[in-house]
Amino acid sequence: MAEPLRVLVTGAAGQIAYSLLYSVAKGDVFGPNQPIILVLLDIQPMLGVLEGVVMEMMDCALPLLREVIPSVNEMEAFKDVDVAMLVGAMPRREGMERKDLLAANVKIFKSMGVAIDSQAKKNIKVVVVGNPANTNAYICKKYAPSINPANFTALTRLDQNRAQAQIAAKLGVSNSSVKNCVIWGNHSSTQYPDVNQAVVDLNGKSMPVREAVKDDNWLNNDFIKTVQQRGAAVIKARKLSSAMSAAKAIVDHVRDWWNGVPDGTYVSMAVPSDGSYNIEEGLIYSFPVRTKPDHTYEIVKGLTINDFSREKMDATEKELSEEKNMALSVCES
Ligand code: NAD
Ligand code: LMR
Repeated sequence: MAEPLRVLVTGAAGQIAYSLLYSVAKGDVFGPNQPIILVLLDIQPMLGVLEGVVMEMMDCALPLLREVIPSVNEMEAFKDVDVAMLVGAMPRREGMERKDLLAANVKIFKSMGVAIDSQAKKNIKVVVVGNPANTNAYICKKYAPSINPANFTALTRLDQNRAQAQIAAKLGVSNSSVKNCVIWGNHSSTQYPDVNQAVVDLNGKSMPVREAVKDDNWLNNDFIKTVQQRGAAVIKARKLSSAMSAAKAIVDHVRDWWNGVPDGTYVSMAVPSDGSYNIEEGLIYSFPVRTKPDHTYEIVKGLTINDFSREKMDATEKELSEEKNMALSVCES
């Protein structure tokens, strides 16, 4: 068997982590032959809860789980980490936008960037989940200059899964029949869920989603709004932000990054822009990416962008650029 991977989950006493940890520890992300050591970081007041989570992880008696290490010390927790799932941050409440969390959360990611820079493995892979996720990832990357910027990503897979599920429900097909829905931009209400490249398997035949749905008005209006507003709708209904679906999306994101996706398919990840599609370089912007079995990815280039898409892609870029400036001033204050 391979050497154990050291996987850190922050916010480990919180609600997303409670849905996430079992799935990671039983092999859903790194596969059935990869042992792991789980490092669980939270803050001092949550230590008691964290100890309960550690007991439960032990009691699952999982074959791949070699060790569970609780921690309330950031510098210790990041030591030699291979993969970090940065969940720990304040969630929004009803009536808030995710960027309203910026002042409260962005300093957490500055401090994590500093810890990553000095403690983690140099090829660490990071996914930021805590909101505003793209901008937090931008800050984390900035404060970890010794790490390849491409190794900092933020989660927009939940949005992709939401888009895919809406299309599958509309067509009455299984979720796995729908491929290549793209999320562009920010994990916020300006994100642009785009089905122009998406395809669906109908009775063994692959066809463009637009052709199958035959309702451009729905695709250009209600579909987009539903996906953009889904997080708020869950908060309104549950009085808590999404957790089960968020955990599933984290598993999907890291599994696909780690293992690669089949030829001809791609997934959405918020990653540092390299200027593709004229998006400001360095912003953590959600693009379609092709992931590879060597744990790398590339932004899918050359997709046709019509005027409708361009306008929406630019609007979400503008929001990210503004968030970036706000975050930088918070970090420098
Ligand atoms: P939660 O309040 O249940 O748990 C958050 C945990 O983080 C708490 O245990 C808290 O003590 C801990 N924490 C706070 N500061 C920390 C720090 N500096 N270091 C380590 N741990 C720290 O919240 P949740 O529902 O698990 O959500 C966590 C975050 O994920 C929120 O910001 C939420 O908005 C975000 N979220 C993002 C997505 C996405 O798709 N990107 C989806 C769902 C939720
Ligand atoms: C989500 O998309 O469900 C999360 O980002 C939580 C939120 O604040 O919407």
